[in-house]
Amino acid sequence: MSDTIKYLLDEERLPKAWYNIVADLPRPPDPVLHPGTLQPVGPQDLEPLFPMALIQQEVSAERTIDIPEPIRAVYRQWRPTPLFRARRLERALDTPARIYYKYEGVSPAGSHKPNTAVAQAFYNKEAGVGRLTTETGAGQWGSALAFAGALFGLEVRVYMVRVSFDQKPYRKAMMEAWGAQCVASPSTETEAGRRILAEHPNSPGSLGIAISEAVEIAAQRADTKYSLGSVLNHVLLHQTVIGQEAIAQLEMAGDYPDIIVGCTGGGSNFAGIAFPFIGAGLRGGPRPRVIACEPSACPSLTRGKYAYDFGDTGHLTPLVKMHTLGSTFVPPGFHAGGLRYHGMAPLVSLLRHAGVVEAVSYPQLKCFEAAVTFARTEGIIVAPETSHAVRCAIDEALKAKDEGKERTILFNLSGHGHFDMAAYEKYLAAELIDYEYPAERVREALAHLPQVY
Ligand SMILES: Cc1ncc(COP(=O)(O)O)c(C=O)c1O
Repeated sequence: MSDTIKYLLDEERLPKAWYNIVADLPRPPDPVLHPGTLQPVGPQDLEPLFPMALIQQEVSAERTIDIPEPIRAVYRQWRPTPLFRARRLERALDTPARIYYKYEGVSPAGSHKPNTAVAQAFYNKEAGVGRLTTETGAGQWGSALAFAGALFGLEVRVYMVRVSFDQKPYRKAMMEAWGAQCVASPSTETEAGRRILAEHPNSPGSLGIAISEAVEIAAQRADTKYSLGSVLNHVLLHQTVIGQEAIAQLEMAGDYPDIIVGCTGGGSNFAGIAFPFIGAGLRGGPRPRVIACEPSACPSLTRGKYAYDFGDTGHLTPLVKMHTLGSTFVPPGFHAGGLRYHGMAPLVSLLRHAGVVEAVSYPQLKCFEAAVTFARTEGIIVAPETSHAVRCAIDEALKAKDEGKERTILFNLSGHGHFDMAAYEKYLAAELIDYEYPAERVREALAHLPQVY
């Protein structure tokens, strides 16, 4: 049909395996280093924090890893997610480009995050773990892990970045409805939190700080492990169901993307949609342009350094090679809380460094403008994080119009913004401001990068 709006896959088309891009990389990723010795870590170093099944996935070079049936059974509640053709947006832009978006907002928590939350809860439960700690920026990840914890009978304690905690009180209520606890970070519960508060009593918090708090608590109790919502290889791996489904859905549409777009906080939804396509290209197939979109107030991929750095502000995590703005950098309190992270997934960073992935950055007002255009054409009110991808997709569609080129653009609609209406309200009242790139603070944070030779 020529006017199809949504491409749906039956439940049995849900992928049976995750795709691991490490198998197709031109070189192996750089090793993860121990924060004390600066030597490569072994599985036993990570065991206090993660169950062995996830550690094995973290270091795996196998191209595919089977998805256990109990995880697929939960995925089936909302997966495969729909792929939409944005026909009304295309008409409004008067573009010859075909725009498709994969809608991850249909999950119970409202974003792509349950794809890994469910997997992580399953493997922790299998390993006999009773309790998980984690960080959350926007609240999407904390909600996703709370949901997954409820399904697998795990206690969940979430450290939510202070500025988002204040901006979005109902995310906490949502986590509590699923039986989790949610604490504003920095908190007085941890050494890491108390240290930050002593220096900056009004700290807005950051993902780097919340990670330190969650890791510190997890390391104290044998029944507790830590769960990370982005950045790590196994998290990106779990998200690849998105891109695999999109490949099948675009096949139904008789199309293939020229451009793939995703927003990047820690890199997981971007990797989820892009890696299966990038992998096909690395194995000799077509190579679409792949664009990572980030906030100009926290631009790790476009302005950061590609270097070894800590994953957290309190320096409790191992060191990874990534694009970083410095682990002590606390981004300004813009509304895309899930993009306020100083670093970027090592696998996304490696592909950016190798020139396989492009990156762009946008200030928040331009993103909200795009989000409102999208809401008024496609109807979906996207999360502020996702609005960065919408901005890029619209810009690329307008470029195609200027150049008179038919192009196929695919973007990941990582989540809805139903808990972000205070931000939309401010934008519509012209009360939202853009933040300058905090060059001086980034310089200061980068001056303290660990010395790794
Ligand atoms: C809706 C949404 N999109 C994107 C992100 C960014 O995370 P990642 O880069 O890991 O996909 C978040 C993080 O909280 C989010 O909530």
